[in-house]
Amino acid sequence: MTWLTDFWRSSIGGKVTMAVTGLLLFGFTVAHLLGNLQLLKGPDAINAYAKMLHDLGPLLWVARIGLLAIFVLHVVTAIRLSRANKAARPVPYAKDATMVATFASRSMLFSGLSLLAFVVYHLAHFTFGVTNPEHYAKKAAAAQGHDVYSMVTASFQVPAIAIAYAGFQIVLFLHLKHGIQSLCHTLGLHHGRYTPMIKTLSFVLAAGVAGGNALLALSVLLGIVKGAA
Ligand code: HEM
Repeated sequence: MTWLTDFWRSSIGGKVTMAVTGLLLFGFTVAHLLGNLQLLKGPDAINAYAKMLHDLGPLLWVARIGLLAIFVLHVVTAIRLSRANKAARPVPYAKDATMVATFASRSMLFSGLSLLAFVVYHLAHFTFGVTNPEHYAKKAAAAQGHDVYSMVTASFQVPAIAIAYAGFQIVLFLHLKHGIQSLCHTLGLHHGRYTPMIKTLSFVLAAGVAGGNALLALSVLLGIVKGAA
């Protein structure tokens, strides 16, 4: 096992860990959005999807624990790399060399930690029913306890919640866009010929995920997706 920790501690090992865990987390955001888009089809579609996930039983728990492990590894590695970078350059350059870096790349650690805060809030809201328990109660009130439609629509009918979710998607967009570019670089796709293609692809994928999430929150707020009767 020591070779694995030695690899993780190395600079390239840290970058590969960020790339692989980042790719898996990006896969989760796509799958999660595709599931949540069932909201647009109505209560039966999204509630059947929620029940199907729940019926996976122990498999769902394996997936959840795996997701949590990947998430923790991604965050811990990011903090370690950021500290190592700072330690390697204790005295800042007279002329800030990061000026050439994009806004998104400079703020990766900040956007990442904001995402962590969002996920903690999101789980407290929809998974554990700690914040706004009246929304969570709607999910559990249905006969089979999977009325995700009522819970999500009741939540996004509150302007502050819908606007916060939609606004937060800007942070998600910036993080995903730069993350996809970085992981392509780490995985060796940094030939100048590919750069414009990677930039376009990262923009489209990040905008697709963040835009899809914002669309869901705003569709409910604007009454395009109606609340449960
Ligand atoms: C409008 C956007 C979103 C909606 C409507 C939504 C909705 C939901 C719902 C209904 C649940 C499950 C609650 C339950 O029955 O236990 C959930 C879980 C979760 N969501 Fe979201 N979500 C959104 C965006 C996001 C984003 C952007 C992320 C991460 C970046 C995220 C991460 C998670 C995670 C990690 C879980 C826990 C998964 C599990 O344990 O099964 N969600 N979300």
